[in-house]
Amino acid sequence: MARETWATRLGFILAAVGSAVGLGNIWRFPFLTGEAGGAAFLVVYLLFVAVIGLPVLLVELVIGRRSNRNPIGAFEALEAPNWKFAGVVGAVAGFIILSYYSVVGGWVIQYLIASLTGAYAANPGEYFLSTASGLNAVAFHALFMGLVATVVALGIRDGLERAAKVMVPSIVFLLVVLAGYGSTLSGAGAAYSYYLSPDVGTIVANATSLIPDAAGQAFFTLSLGMGVMVTYASYLGEDRNLFRDAGTIVVIDTLVAFLAGLVVFPFLFTQGVEPGSGGAGAVFISLATAFAELPAGGVVGAVFFFMLGIAALTSAFSILEVVVSYVVDTYGVARKPATVAIAGIIFLVGIPTALDLTYLDTYDLLANNILLILGGLLLSLFVGWRYAGEAIEELRKGSGDATLSVAWIWIVRLLVPAVLLYTLYLGIEGYAEFLVETYIA
Ligand code: TRP
Repeated sequence: MARETWATRLGFILAAVGSAVGLGNIWRFPFLTGEAGGAAFLVVYLLFVAVIGLPVLLVELVIGRRSNRNPIGAFEALEAPNWKFAGVVGAVAGFIILSYYSVVGGWVIQYLIASLTGAYAANPGEYFLSTASGLNAVAFHALFMGLVATVVALGIRDGLERAAKVMVPSIVFLLVVLAGYGSTLSGAGAAYSYYLSPDVGTIVANATSLIPDAAGQAFFTLSLGMGVMVTYASYLGEDRNLFRDAGTIVVIDTLVAFLAGLVVFPFLFTQGVEPGSGGAGAVFISLATAFAELPAGGVVGAVFFFMLGIAALTSAFSILEVVVSYVVDTYGVARKPATVAIAGIIFLVGIPTALDLTYLDTYDLLANNILLILGGLLLSLFVGWRYAGEAIEELRKGSGDATLSVAWIWIVRLLVPAVLLYTLYLGIEGYAEFLVETYIA
């Protein structure tokens, strides 16, 4: 089968980085960091990114390039059809994540417009509540899904690659400018010590909640556990050095999240907003408050939300692309009708979240702290135990470093499954508690 490949060497990296960098970095990371107590969360998160995230990213890249398929078809191509279950877990996670991701993407569009009209200036807290739930939230959720579906329907080369090329560099540039601006605010000092000086006692005392939250965030932000990176690598030529590509993706993604914290916390502390208080709205409420009071804040705000919308779009493309690629490869359906149908279903799944914020955590925790971790665990077990020899061979194409490849396969065999099993246990336990507290108690 003649499959499309990336048009340029840079195309893959930009699209993979475009997938990784999104609401996870700029909305979810700061809000989880605020809820989990600042620097303690940052430390555990960074550990997970380096020790688990990077090896699992390589697992996905190896499977994708080896099989040239979407994650479900990949296991058939690799003659291991029993492992298809891992791909199914990923596809389910994709439906759930994109359903609420698109709702939050809709908020971003509303905030972009509101920055220009001044609609949130009078009462940012109230404005968030009116933005987040209701028929307007449903309408902007529909608009966001429509944009995502349009780009996916245009196909991998014309849509994703061209978009990512412009978007990712502008995101980094704008965050640096905003972080520089944040450093001049009066709350910057307090913000930096909250965000950057970890306390070992706090980490140990809160480990059972920090571990699943930080692991879920590491997977979410790197787009791992549901086969996005499998799919992107399936369009990849054999001359790429996967170690170097994975390192580039991880470093840029982590840098953007870190920068987002440097933007968000100085604004929060300057406004006297408790960083953990606002939940999913924290970033929106506090930034809107800040933009409302700043000189030329409307323009700064519009720039910020435009950038956030772009980051969200490139990430959302990647989730929809996985599911579409599966349907196109498996059933031979044409890309455009498949995209429209799947986007429509995901839109419907997201409607409860757009009407009532309670569902956001219900979806989000299930997908990230359980399904993505399970997906990553299965992919790692497959590569580590069933497919190790060929995986090493694949990894060495274009890179050739034997020692690193062997070190990687042992990490994937032993360390990654042990840590992810424990994480999964904590994630399930935490989710059960959450469900009882939210719906029963
Ligand atoms: N990584 C993206 C973000 O941080 C979200 C995302 C895109 C994602 N593709 C994914 C999350 C696949 C989990 C799985 O915003």
